[in-house]
Amino acid sequence: MIRDLLRPSGTVELTKRPRRLRSSPTMRDLVRESEVRIGSLVQPLFIADEGQPAGEIASMPGVFRYRVDDVAPECRTLAKLGINAVLLFGIPDRKDAVASSAHDPAGVVQRTIRAIKSAVPEMLVIADLCNCEYTDHGHCGILDENGEVDNDATLELLGRTALSYAEAGVDIVAPSDMMDGRVGYLRATLDGSGYSALPIMSYAVKFASGFYGPFREAADSTPHFGDRRGYQMDPPNAREAVREALLDLDEGADILIVKPALAYMDLIRAVREVSDVPVACYSVSGEYAMVKAAARNGWIDEDRIVDETLAGFVRAGADIIITYFAKSYAQRHGTRGPAA
Ligand code: PBG
Repeated sequence: MIRDLLRPSGTVELTKRPRRLRSSPTMRDLVRESEVRIGSLVQPLFIADEGQPAGEIASMPGVFRYRVDDVAPECRTLAKLGINAVLLFGIPDRKDAVASSAHDPAGVVQRTIRAIKSAVPEMLVIADLCNCEYTDHGHCGILDENGEVDNDATLELLGRTALSYAEAGVDIVAPSDMMDGRVGYLRATLDGSGYSALPIMSYAVKFASGFYGPFREAADSTPHFGDRRGYQMDPPNAREAVREALLDLDEGADILIVKPALAYMDLIRAVREVSDVPVACYSVSGEYAMVKAAARNGWIDEDRIVDETLAGFVRAGADIIITYFAKSYAQRHGTRGPAA
């Protein structure tokens, strides 16, 4: 190639100069290939019941545990910034072996859903559907006599909780437990009770990840023994990720989530290519904490890193981005997308 460009005199005559299109901010804006839309960001929110501590989460500076009464005002602020959707996690007062408070009609998440939908009806309320915050052992389902999570018994529990969220007025349910067959089970359960219009946003591709560390402090959901490797995926597996995505699609998932995001961008792309539903990525607590920690040390520029990372998710194929930076991103970039 380069040899073709050489003149007899030996000087290089370049004809292809990609730098021509990088000459100014407006030129770069003209040729920009993808854009982070604020309307596609989802802000996760933690809600602590009365007996649980509220306030800033130590390992996630800028992220708070709210009281039920404080969530609607926060949603109003988010809506003004152009954030359309929140993802709810509850920290209940009562935990037991069978996660009873997960499907309590007066549970912390059910009360929060009602509060948001009556105060800020246009806000899309997504409820994370899992048992780990509600079990006293911290696992995502009901345990059998060997201490393993019993898949099919857990499905029934998820179905009850999904119905209680539906009755409270939730807009989307997001099962994050990784039980086999739960999307099909939930679809049938919801349809059977008149909720056929309620979408399921499935954590289809969810890995057993060290990046969840700060979340488990935030949501008080660390397993008291063992780990989640018996139900969450093994990080090196990509073919299996596609299989999980296709199974959930087949069972009726409306939106597929890949989680975590940063270390799994290849799978955001892979899932995007094998499916025709919206693909979300969840940039998890550890991803947030790493950026915050390095920025606080003055080692990186937080805003640039966040902009670059979110742009990367879009480039990888994410239609929806769940991120703890949603609010601050919207504050910095207004209600239109940024010049990334
Ligand atoms: C579990 C759940 C987890 C997260 C979302 N839902 C934790 C886990 O599986 O251990 C993690 C989110 C984050 O780290 O930000 N129901």
